[in-house]
Amino acid sequence: MALLELDGLTKRYGGVTAVNDVTMRVEAGEVRAVIGPNGAGKTSLFHLITGVVTATSGDVRFDGRVLSGLSSYQRCQAGLSRTFQLTSLFPEMTARENCRVAAQARLPRRWQPWGGASVFGEASKRGDEALERLGLSAVAGRPAGLLSHGDQRLLEVAMALSQKPRVLLLDEPTQGLSVEETLTAVETLAGLFAGGGLTVLLVEHDMEVVFRLASKITVMHRGSVIADDVPSVVKDDAAVQAAYLGGYA
Ligand SMILES: Nc1ncnc2c1ncn2[C@@H]1O[C@H](COP(=O)(O)OP(=O)(O)O)[C@@H](O)[C@H]1O
Ligand SMILES: [Mg+2]
Repeated sequence: MALLELDGLTKRYGGVTAVNDVTMRVEAGEVRAVIGPNGAGKTSLFHLITGVVTATSGDVRFDGRVLSGLSSYQRCQAGLSRTFQLTSLFPEMTARENCRVAAQARLPRRWQPWGGASVFGEASKRGDEALERLGLSAVAGRPAGLLSHGDQRLLEVAMALSQKPRVLLLDEPTQGLSVEETLTAVETLAGLFAGGGLTVLLVEHDMEVVFRLASKITVMHRGSVIADDVPSVVKDDAAVQAAYLGGYA
């Protein structure tokens, strides 16, 4: 049984089918990228998995359990952690505090006075570990709002990682970064994934980023999956090349 299974997942917005009958299996330990040109349905798929929007039809199963009807928060508790968006970062708080708060959100007994001190300690430890894995230890004490743009994007990943997710979900982690910042971020993520032990689902439109990071690639075009294979096979797929050229022309 795969850790994350999508079955016939479909999302319609009025006349637009953003996600069309997507079936997909993500095994534990995989770094799966979902790619496709703008408008392919990647973010919609991500929202369906994380519970931000409700599917028109189809199922998401996580560790054998159907997630329909569970809120984003409940899915996070179950072990699906998504990158926090820049807007959900507390800019005046340090990078370390942001990670600690993220970690705390997934720990049990966090609101009980007698659980407080130990939860705080455990959350701080998880946060610091995540910062270290993303190469952010040196800036851990700096307010998040004062970090470079590249470090802020990595901090978003660190916050999700602080929750010790069973599947780490990233939506375009290099979006908005300069070429140089993208290179740094991609190498940092490559190092993180190379350590093993993580299951990752990465949504990304940049082919270079995907080929550097992914162990398997699902290609979407106009809501549907048009290829699903290892990078070397996907790279030579004629339909994929056509979709990308068509998408950007
Ligand atoms: N909330 C929405 N309401 C109406 N249409 C939407 C909504 N979200 C996405 N879409 C449409 O669904 C399609 C897929 O969008 P999206 O998932 O954002 O693609 P991607 O992330 O691959 O660029 C697009 O045609 C987009 O306009
Ligand atoms: Mg998108």
